[in-house]
Parts: sequence; C-alpha cells; structure tokens
Amino acid sequence: MDVVRLGRTDLDAVEAFFRRHTWHAATWDRLLDSAAVARLARAQVASDAEQGGVVLGAAGGRELEGVAVLTPSAWDTAFFGVARGQVTVFEGSSAEAEAALAARLGPEARRLGLEHVHAVVDGRCHGAIAILQRTGWRVAWTSLKMVCDTQAIESAALVREPAGAFEVIPFEQAHLDRVLDMAERVRGISWLEHEPDLPAQRRREYLVEMTRNCCAGRFADLSVTLLDRGAPVGFNASAISRYPEGVASHLFTHERVTFTDPTVHGRGYGHALERGVVRHLAPRVRFLTGRVRLGAPNMLRVVEDAGFRCQGGDVYLVRRTPA
Ligand SMILES: CC(C)(COP(=O)(O)OP(=O)(O)OC[C@H]1O[C@@H](n2cnc3c(N)ncnc32)[C@H](O)[C@@H]1OP(=O)(O)O)[C@@H](O)C(=O)NCCC(=O)NCCS
Repeated sequence: MDVVRLGRTDLDAVEAFFRRHTWHAATWDRLLDSAAVARLARAQVASDAEQGGVVLGAAGGRELEGVAVLTPSAWDTAFFGVARGQVTVFEGSSAEAEAALAARLGPEARRLGLEHVHAVVDGRCHGAIAILQRTGWRVAWTSLKMVCDTQAIESAALVREPAGAFEVIPFEQAHLDRVLDMAERVRGISWLEHEPDLPAQRRREYLVEMTRNCCAGRFADLSVTLLDRGAPVGFNASAISRYPEGVASHLFTHERVTFTDPTVHGRGYGHALERGVVRHLAPRVRFLTGRVRLGAPNMLRVVEDAGFRCQGGDVYLVRRTPA
C-alpha cells in the first residue's frame, strides 16, 4: 500500500473515495445524502489543505483506499506554547490502508515541526482507533456527539420555562467582567486533558481566553448570558456554520462553551441556560451540535432536557512527536 501526498488536482479522487466509504464526521446530519456527505468531505479536505495541511492518500491500486489530513493549529500552538496540530480526517476502507496512513502521520508531523498532534475519531471506527493506539497515540478523552434538530423537538421545549428570576438574553458588554470571572473559576474543561502538565495559572486562563474570544465575536457568532435577578450566572457561545456551496442550504451550530457559576451548580441554572440557548437559536438554525464529555452526565441531562439527542461519540487521541 503506497501513501502519497495529495493536492488540489486529487480532490475528485477524494470525493470518489468518500462516495464509496462513509465519512462519519457528517453522519449526524440526516438531511444529507451520501453524495452530499462526499462533497462535504471534499470541501473539508480542500479547506484543510488551503490552511497549510498535509493531505495523505493511501492507494493499493488505481483508487484511493484511505485519506488522512494533518493540519497545524495556530491558536493552540500560541496558547500552549507547543507546536500543535490536528488530524481532521483519518479514514480508510481497510485496516491495511489505515495502518499505512497511521505510519506516515508521525514523520509528517515532524516534517511540519509539530510536537503534539490530536485526532478526533468517530467511536464506530474501532479498527482505526486500535491502529492509532498501536502507533504511539493515546486516548485523552471521549465525548458524546449531541444534536438538536430544532424542527423536530416538541414546541413545548422551546416555550416551557418556569416563571422565576432566570432570564437568558444575548450577551452584552456589561456582562463581560462577571462572565470572565465565572470562566476563571470553572473547572473540568476537556481540552486541558491534552496538557496535564500545564501550570495551574495557564489552566485558569484557558477558558477565560476562549470566552473572551467568543464575546468579541472571534470564536462564536452568538453568545448568551443567563441572568438571575439581573446578575450574570451562566454563559453559552455558539458558532454558526454554513455548508459549502452545493452541499446543503441549512445552517448548524457548534456549541463552543457552556458554563454556570460554580457557586450555584446543582440548582437548575444549567437547565435554564441550555433551554434558553435553544430558544434563541431555533429560529435561525436547523441543527445545534455539541460535544459532551462522556464523564459529564450532568451536562448530558442538561442538553437532553433542552432537546438534544445523542448521535454517537468521538474518541480524542494524542500523539507527541519527539522533535
Ligand atoms: C455542566 C454545567 C453547565 C451544569 O450546570 P448546573 O448549573 O450545575 O446544572 P443544573 O443545576 O441545572 O443541573 C444539575 C442538577 O441540578 C439539580 N436541580 C436542582 N434544581 C433544579 C431545577 N430547578 N431544575 C433542574 N434541575 C435542578 C438537578 O438534580 C440536576 O440534576 P440532573 O443532572 O439530574 O439534571 C456546570 O456544571 C458547569 O458549568 N460545569 C463546568 C463546565 C462544563 O463542564 N461544561 C460542559 C462541557 S461538556
């Protein structure tokens, strides 16, 4: 099995591969047929390549049997102070193709100067996960893929709200100080599992910096604040995504960050916040998507209560490449 670097002229072959082989990253959207999923995979690969990614194709004969894309991650590199990258596509139609791709990821990461690479692999791809583990990757954490089809949930989920002091409104600059103060005190952020040795101060700054970027519109398109008698006690931010031309017309969101003030956890604030998020986004977007860490059953119940359903899960794997 040969592994070659692919370029713009190979995108037809990439799309043809994903017509024959499911691209699990998009299967949560049941409005997309397999041809649309293949066009989406092609667009993802093209966009990763434009951002400096390396596209690898495994081929035994004339047709591609596997595709992997390795991309540098500028924001993570700047924040963690370690050259970081991610594998956004790692799919093969055979174990042989996946083994050949996995064997190339380490050398390609070194060539790009990356010291730390993570991959998100759909939990259904057992073979791929096993192959990555055999080639030096370790599981960092696992998450559930949660999706809310805003046209399919009970309309009561959108209007039911106990009369009370809670209110979810679009984020305003006047909330910023309280929201950042909450972010500094929140614990248990999955992404930090990538860097267990990160100093405590940097760990606290991580969510603060991400939240600040969401509030400024750099990392999210809609942010909302949960108010209790006028005081901010929770925050959520979502990025709205549009499919590339020719794929589909509906919009969807990625939930970027959700938290409530640690001093009030377990009192119903999380439930009220997430229901408010759905109420705000449902008129604008068809699907809301988010990831809930497998070890966070409280967050799982919060999003289920707001109309999200589980559509599978992902395994996050990490590989450090000695420079
Ligand atoms: C996850 C998180 C947002 C949940 O927020 P919360 O304010 O503790 O959530 P709630 O109080 O609404 O719900 C938790 C429990 O409170 C209890 N509760 C008390 N009063 C309640 C009420 N009036 N309505 C609903 N639940 C109530 C329920 O028992 C609920 O239990 P459940 O887990 O069975 O649903 C919060 O813990 C958090 O910010 N965590 C850190 C960041 C994080 O992990 N984010 C998610 C990443 S995946």
